[in-house]
Amino acid sequence: MPPRAKSPPSATTRRTAAANRLWGGRFAVGSGKILKQINASIDVDRRLYAHDIAGSIAHVEMLVRRKIVSAAEGRAIARGLKRVRAEIEAGKFVFRRDLEDIHMNVEARLAALIGKPAGRLHTARSRNDQVATDFRLWVRDAAEAIDARLREFQRALLDQAGAHAAAVMPGFTHLQPAQPVTFGHHLLAYVEMAGRDRGRFADARRRANESPLGAAALAGTSFPIDRAMTAKALGFDRPMANSLDAVSDRDFALEFLAAAAICGAHLSRLAEEIVIWTAPQFGFVRLSDAWSTGSSIMPQKRNPDAAELVRAKSGRLFGALIGLLTVMKGLPLAYSKDMQEDKARVFEAADTLELCLAAAAGMIDDMTVDADAMRRAAAIGYITATDLADWLVRKVGLPFREAHHVTGRIVRLAEQRGCALDELPLAEMRKIDPRIARGVFAVLSLDKSVASRTSFGGTAPANVRRAVKAARRRYL
Ligand code: ARG
Repeated sequence: MPPRAKSPPSATTRRTAAANRLWGGRFAVGSGKILKQINASIDVDRRLYAHDIAGSIAHVEMLVRRKIVSAAEGRAIARGLKRVRAEIEAGKFVFRRDLEDIHMNVEARLAALIGKPAGRLHTARSRNDQVATDFRLWVRDAAEAIDARLREFQRALLDQAGAHAAAVMPGFTHLQPAQPVTFGHHLLAYVEMAGRDRGRFADARRRANESPLGAAALAGTSFPIDRAMTAKALGFDRPMANSLDAVSDRDFALEFLAAAAICGAHLSRLAEEIVIWTAPQFGFVRLSDAWSTGSSIMPQKRNPDAAELVRAKSGRLFGALIGLLTVMKGLPLAYSKDMQEDKARVFEAADTLELCLAAAAGMIDDMTVDADAMRRAAAIGYITATDLADWLVRKVGLPFREAHHVTGRIVRLAEQRGCALDELPLAEMRKIDPRIARGVFAVLSLDKSVASRTSFGGTAPANVRRAVKAARRRYL
């Protein structure tokens, strides 16, 4: 957070005496106080320090190779930059808001350390291509860190899915009991979502991995630079093809945020299910004390706060995406200072998503599954009615629409008698359709129902076990 003025600033802001050190040549006095405040990004972009220094080292090595800077000066600059990095990492660096951003903070310290040669580092470069380079490198790392978290989340899901491949629970549509499924199968649905999320981050990373460095302010440079060399040194696949695009594109950040937002939507659905499953009325799952919070007034409570917060924090992820889209829309080419607002959105989203993924994996690992409670819940709501209708199609030869109708009448009968479908006397069912035979009971049980769902991607425990193995091979 930038520092807040204690009292509201007057409209005519005080001016600092000295002209700015970067562009001071053309300016008689320095920036006003509020301009400085709104302009400074150092509190946010200091996180780019390592990427900024890596970019500068690659740049100066190229300048030396191309004989734009002498070998001796290049060495001094590279050595100085490494010292700056060491100072930052040791916590000895003083970040200065009056130096606006990370680029100027590093460069000013470099000048203090090595003197004059520091001024040569910025040859054939601008902060515009510099920040785009730093930020791409950062997003690339973040995509990798999130991929590792997603993998860990999948690992947790797969462990529980394997352990509960045959645990019958009610599958829902409209949150109404629909057909029995297994808990393992249900968890595997999230493994698939996480797999697509990983694909989206990998995709975003791949398109982000081009180098803007050397685009300079917007038009390229007249110095004989080698953009392919710096691109390679920084692990980029190639230099970006158009200098205007290189400094004004933030698609890579938007794609990262879009992937984060979709992932957040997935996590919020799981979180909501954990909230439902842990409610005593369901009792499908229990979270240990480590993942439950109590109430100061109601001693019986075990609240799933972490799940609720994962559910809620998806809002930050959506907000970050829409926030940056709003910043970018309508910006004329090339760079505008608006774009400085990009980093806070992305940093917050990356931090939020990493935390939410860790919480989701932690809760999945932690949860104790109450298979009996799931089974009891599955016995409610005539959940095998579809199996009965399918049986009428298969064994009696009814068209499905007619079978649906007959089954509906049988469900109504069970409702009237207050019993489950498999508790109805055969004679009663026969009154509705005399072709129904004893064999029907074989499909009315929960276990038979799930075991019969062997179609590819279906919920049969045998399928689930195979799917867990396949997903382990594919993702872990
Ligand atoms: N701090 C700036 C940002 O994050 C760096 C680029 C500044 N470029 C400029 N032309 N003022 O966008």
